Amino acid sequence: MSATVITVKNDGSYYVKGDFTLVTEGGTPIVNEDGQEAWLCRCGQSSTKPFCDGTHRKVKFQSRLDPPV
Ligand code: FES
Repeated sequence: MSATVITVKNDGSYYVKGDFTLVTEGGTPIVNEDGQEAWLCRCGQSSTKPFCDGTHRKVKFQSRLDPPV
């Protein structure tokens, strides 16, 4: 079994791929219809939190951890 990977997308979401369980702080499961992958909001503006709905593009969210190319 390979490890679950969380990729911090440049100017976007967290992309999670692999086996994981998403729950609230209180332990309530959050249904992830995409199975073993999810895009989680990092900008705080999504209307479908904790999932990304693409709003980061509209608000021009900027956060790059990779060095400039
Ligand atoms: S990261 Fe995509 S809506 Fe927040």
